Amino acid sequence: MAEAKHGNQPITINETVGKKAYCTCGHSMILPYCDGAHSKMQTGLSPIVVEITNPGQRAVCQCHRSECMPWCDGIHSKL
Ligand code: FES
Repeated sequence: MAEAKHGNQPITINETVGKKAYCTCGHSMILPYCDGAHSKMQTGLSPIVVEITNPGQRAVCQCHRSECMPWCDGIHSKL
C-alpha cells in the first residue's frame, strides 16, 4: 500500500468541457488527471470526478489539503 504523494504547488491548466477525473493520490503520470495509479498502488484513494461546464483556467490542488478540492484554495502556501 502506497502513501499519497503531495505536491507543494497547484497545476494550472486550461480546462475543457466534459467529465474529468482529478488525481488525489499524486502518483498519476498524467497529473492533474487520474490514470488509475491509485488502484495499482493500493493507495485506498479515489479521483475526484467533476463535470466541467465552463471551460477556462483552473488551478488544481496538488497538496491535497484544499477545502475546495479539486481546486486550489491557497492552503499550500501556509503549510
Ligand atoms: S491516479 Fe491518483 S487518484 Fe487515480
